[in-house]
Amino acid sequence: MLKIAKYPEQILRQTAKPISDFNDDLKALADEMAEVMYKDDGIGLAAPQVSKSMRLIVVGTSRGKYRVYVNPEITFFSKDKGRSEEGCLSLPQIFGWVTRAKKIHVKYQDLEGNVYKEKLKGLESIVLQHELDHLNGILFIDRAEKISKGRELLDSLKAKLDEK
Ligand code: CO
Repeated sequence: MLKIAKYPEQILRQTAKPISDFNDDLKALADEMAEVMYKDDGIGLAAPQVSKSMRLIVVGTSRGKYRVYVNPEITFFSKDKGRSEEGCLSLPQIFGWVTRAKKIHVKYQDLEGNVYKEKLKGLESIVLQHELDHLNGILFIDRAEKISKGRELLDSLKAKLDEK
């Protein structure tokens, strides 16, 4: 099973590479990512979190079939914003308040390379913005106005990073 990269692993800070091969390996990776996400009770997972530099996201906000976004791009952010408490499988036990657009439009490809456009709101909009940040090396702690849980843990992880 795939292993989740944890902060401060370097892969989490890299810009992930676009996907151009829509092959069986890609489908298998999406399946494995979904498996890890469900096992750890996540609602979204980006490929850099399993140490793959690829622009691939799986979202599982509702039980059943997870959704896959290949090469996603957000083409619209609503001016209307909302604040919610976020966590991340790469930063276990750490939570923080993040402000994001309430509605977004996203353009993406499926596992066959077909292009789609979608409008998202609510939890799905938040999750997609959080996961797309991962593809650009951004973590929710960079955007958090306030760390609500795990402040000391985060400080000790950051100190580890400074020592390197
Ligand atoms: Co995350």
